[in-house]
Amino acid sequence: MSKAIYIASSESDSGKAVITLGLMNILVGKIKKIAYFKPVIRENGGNHKDINIETIIDHFGLNITYEDSYAFNYKELLKYRSEGNNAYIIDTIISKYKKLDDAYDFVVVDGMDLEGEGASFEFSSNVEIAKNLGIPLILVAKADGYSSDEVTRNVLSTLQTLSDKEVRVVAVIANKADPANVEELKSLFRRLLPGDVLNSVIPMTRELKSPTMKEIVEAVDGKLLFGENYLSNRVDHFIVGAMQLRNCLLHLEENTLIVTPGDRGDIIIAMIQANLSKNYPKVAGMILSGGLQPDEPIIKLVEGLERVVPIVQVQTGTFETVKIVGAVKSKIYAENKSKIELAINTFEKYTDTNALVDKIVTSRPEGMTPRMFQYEMVKRAKQAKKHIVLPEGNDDRILIAAEKLLKQGIVKLTILGKKDDIEASLKRLNLELNPANVQIINPSESSDLPDFIATLYELRKNKNMSFDMASDLMKDSAYFGTMMVYKGQADGMVSGSINTTQHTIRPALQFVKTRPGVSTVSSIFFMCLEDRVLVFGDCAVIPKPTSEQLADIAISSAESSIKFGIQPKIAMLSYSSGTSGEGEEVEKVRRATELVKAHRPDLQIEGPIQYDAAVDPAVAKKKLPKSKVAGQATVLIFPDLNTGNNTYKAVQRETGALAIGPILQGLNKPVNDLSRGCTVDDIFNTVVITAIQAQQ
Ligand code: ACO
Repeated sequence: MSKAIYIASSESDSGKAVITLGLMNILVGKIKKIAYFKPVIRENGGNHKDINIETIIDHFGLNITYEDSYAFNYKELLKYRSEGNNAYIIDTIISKYKKLDDAYDFVVVDGMDLEGEGASFEFSSNVEIAKNLGIPLILVAKADGYSSDEVTRNVLSTLQTLSDKEVRVVAVIANKADPANVEELKSLFRRLLPGDVLNSVIPMTRELKSPTMKEIVEAVDGKLLFGENYLSNRVDHFIVGAMQLRNCLLHLEENTLIVTPGDRGDIIIAMIQANLSKNYPKVAGMILSGGLQPDEPIIKLVEGLERVVPIVQVQTGTFETVKIVGAVKSKIYAENKSKIELAINTFEKYTDTNALVDKIVTSRPEGMTPRMFQYEMVKRAKQAKKHIVLPEGNDDRILIAAEKLLKQGIVKLTILGKKDDIEASLKRLNLELNPANVQIINPSESSDLPDFIATLYELRKNKNMSFDMASDLMKDSAYFGTMMVYKGQADGMVSGSINTTQHTIRPALQFVKTRPGVSTVSSIFFMCLEDRVLVFGDCAVIPKPTSEQLADIAISSAESSIKFGIQPKIAMLSYSSGTSGEGEEVEKVRRATELVKAHRPDLQIEGPIQYDAAVDPAVAKKKLPKSKVAGQATVLIFPDLNTGNNTYKAVQRETGALAIGPILQGLNKPVNDLSRGCTVDDIFNTVVITAIQAQQ
């Protein structure tokens, strides 16, 4: 049984990093302890480490050192080869690999990068290493620049070589195919490749091919004058700004880099303005050639601007600079999160990931890491794309999370707010929201407003709500968003990055109301610890629950945990375990436990119980030796909001655990609250969970 996969390409520039990132992303969602190993690395000299290792360790948060992730650098490999030390090379690679194989559940081995003339030698080295490690291989074939017939012939000949060397190939992935040839190539693969080898074809993606301004700055060895925050700007085109200003503007396309002599102040200012203008495409950046500095007044003007694209000064002349820019080959590096995500999404879109994982992962150890939990959640949310409303369109974090959610095809979105303001923010933040999957609505201008007001008034008039009050409230985005959910125009709502918890959930409590059979709305957090996920409830809604409410919270939390794949073992927390302590608060918890047992005898529950006895088997053995829950609790119910809210925050801050929530439970339709200190990832996770709740 193999616990590893080797990814290799047969020639240079195949875009293998896309496949490695995509595969890693699936595997970290399925396997607890995963290692990444590159037998031979290319270091870029100086302090520059191997870009693939750095990117993979950083992006996936792997618990592995840089040094453990490789055996040789390329120079060493050549040296030992020239000395005839092949055996030493292979032995070292095997022993470093074995070390990882022993310590981890799975190892992804990333074959040597093939570059230029040495490519055939490097491919044979990859074959030799894969054979000696005895692990199966995914072959990445470059489709760019070849006809479909040629790609297929190349692949068949490489498969023959691998078969001769007894290396088992599990999949062939053709990358960078001309979109027009994808279907033809797929059909050739289906007909001519061996039936037991999975195959897929990934088309060329412009966004992956285009370099960023950071890569351009490094390639031209320039001095960055402005725009440090926008170095991740993508460069799809470049033009020389030597012409008249009006002509230069006419030549602008989306994401253009302008190379212009440093004394063309008119072009510099106009391009900065074009970037800000709604009527012109986005400018990627500018290179000022010939070592010329812009005049002092121009520098002063630019310095005073809030948002400036990267402006780089180079010593080389315009022609030479353009030549260098044209030759830049884009790479994927750790800081370029959007490119990493795009690579992962592209891989997932064009590859049958389930079939691939089934082929390469033959056994899975038990347990759930935060990444595995998140991966499963995203996968489930994608199964039925739900429509979520985000009322706080004036918060940058919401817009950044929205882009991420849409790019991964997880949900459809409605964002509330003023269209002009949101569009300006999107431009400022460099974000693109696919218009097919998002709508922007300004509640006060919406044609639905009169109907929403009338409905709110009808629903709340016997609770002393006047028509005027309903009119005012419905202009509030939390009310408007909740009414969209009530009316079925959206499947769920996520809010609270700006508004308080009360503000966010009161409309839902007032008219979305509780599900049949549930009388209390409460909340849970998924606490993603290093090696497992716990459910904490209630940490956000009910300040002083009664015994009845505590019992409701426990039952709802257990049901939620089942829905999200966690087997519930409920601990009703208190400062007493079993019969050890007394007092009003202990009695409240004891009664709540009895109520759960009476209503839901199918649930495993223990209470009152202290936190240590709930989760630590050694303490549990001493304090409650007969309990089936003590020491293994997965659902922890706090006696009141003071305890719950502070405990979740304490665990989150002190252990670095990822806390997903609060997730409201018990409502007729899903509405979820964010904390005002939330990160983009928190928003992303909460929307994913809301979408899953909406499926049920
Ligand atoms: N379950 C079901 N219905 C409820 C609940 C509940 N838990 N709470 C209130 N309701 C209903 C009421 O019955 C009432 O219905 P009605 O008007 O139709 O009769 C309606 O909701 C409004 O009730 P109020 O008592 O006016 O509730 P209010 O809106 O004032 O407060 C709230 C509800 C916001 C949940 C309140 O309990 C609260 O403030 N909780 C604490 C929130 C908080 O600050 N959490 C900590 C921060 S969150 C974090 O750190 C992540």
